[in-house]
This record gives sequence, structure tokens and C-alpha cells, in this order.
Amino acid sequence: MSEFIAIDGPAGSGKSSVSAAIARRRGYGLLDTGAAYRALAWHVLERGGHTDDTDAVLAAAADFDLRLGLDPDDRSVAIGDTDITAAIREPRVSSAVSGVARIPAIREQVNIFFRSLVARAPQPAVVVEGRDITTVVAPDAPVRILLTAAPEVRAARRAGELSGENAAEVAAALHKRDASDSAVVDFLNAAEGVEVVDSTHLDFSQTIDAVLAVIDRKQ
Ligand code: C5P
Repeated sequence: MSEFIAIDGPAGSGKSSVSAAIARRRGYGLLDTGAAYRALAWHVLERGGHTDDTDAVLAAAADFDLRLGLDPDDRSVAIGDTDITAAIREPRVSSAVSGVARIPAIREQVNIFFRSLVARAPQPAVVVEGRDITTVVAPDAPVRILLTAAPEVRAARRAGELSGENAAEVAAALHKRDASDSAVVDFLNAAEGVEVVDSTHLDFSQTIDAVLAVIDRKQ
């Protein structure tokens, strides 16, 4: 049975890149739970539906052959034979994904999928990153971390990642998604026993070191 290393945080906190770097460095698996929500949102849109329409989301989820691996060096995502690795990062999917994530039955379905992936993982531990890993998916994990950063720093990081997009637009979209998401799960405040790592004043490698220090202390 593989161990959970649970890392939650908002968009732009550095959570995805830091989690991937740590998984690679330590030989752990990596599970990007946001990719599953994004894949389902993409699937709803592809079927001509809207993610605000609960029936459309539930129907898409009933016909959802998600292929999501745990290899930090192969972060590909597919539905059946269709590779959607790049498509799930498109702004239209980012704008639609909160509509999928707000539905409790969907959250339950994906959480069962996440736990079974980790249970079958060949690695000794899996870094599982998302919004509710420390609180809902794996509240008993030995390592639970909330990675945060000031909102303006998160927006600036995201704007830097997405070339060609206007920084103000990126900040507005990020703020909107955080607001919708935090109405569903609280990922801006640490639950009891969850260690906070604030990356506002840390660069990438300092953030990795800070997270590794928590892992080494807790594991
Ligand atoms: O992490 P990422 O930004 O890719 O997540 C995409 C979306 O998936 C979030 O905006 C949120 O709506 C949803 N999500 C979630 N719970 C998780 C991970 C992601 O609700 N554990």
C-alpha cells in the first residue's frame, strides 16, 4: 500500500510543479487530481454540454474512461484513446472546471478513483496534489501540506506561464476560479494538523526545499 503525501493549494501556488519535482527526486508517484476534474470538464464540453448543467455533467461522468497515470515523467491524460494532455489546460476548460467540481456526486466518484489509484501504486508513496486531499481524500495521510502564496504573486506566476495572455485577465480568471472553488472546499486555510508552506517569498527551489523539510519531518 502506497503512502499519501497530500498537498493542497490554490492555482498559482506552485503546487503542481513543486509536487512533480519532489515526486521525481524521491522516486514517488504523482497524482494531479485537478487533471481529473479538468478532463471531465473537457468531456462535458466535447459532448456539447455545459458544466453548469448538472445532468449534462452526470451523464458525461457515467461515460468517462479516464486514463491518468502516476508517473511524474509522463503526465499525459487521455479519455479512452484520445490524448487530452494539452487540451485540458486551455482557458475554456479552466473557466468551466469549477462547474464540474461543485457537484458532490462527482467529487465522490473521483475520490474513489484517486484512492484506488494510490492503493495500486507501485511506488512507496504518491504525492497527491489538489484542493481537498489533506481534508477529504486522505485526512489520515502522514504528510499533509497546504502550499499557499499571496494572490498577486500567484496571478503573476500564472501570467508568466501562459504567454500571450494579459496579466490582468489572468488575475481576474484566477480570482474567479478560486472564489467558485473555495465555496466547495476550503483550500485557503489549513485544517488542523496541516502544515502551511507559504511560497510568497520563495523561489522554486526554495519552495521544494521547504516542502521536502516537512515531508522528512513527518514521514
Ligand atoms: O489544480 P487545477 O487548477 O488544475 O485544478 C482544476 C480544478 O479542479 C480546480 O479549479 C477545482 O475546481 C478542481 N479541483 C477540485 N479538487 C481537487 C483538485 C481540483 O475541486 N482536489
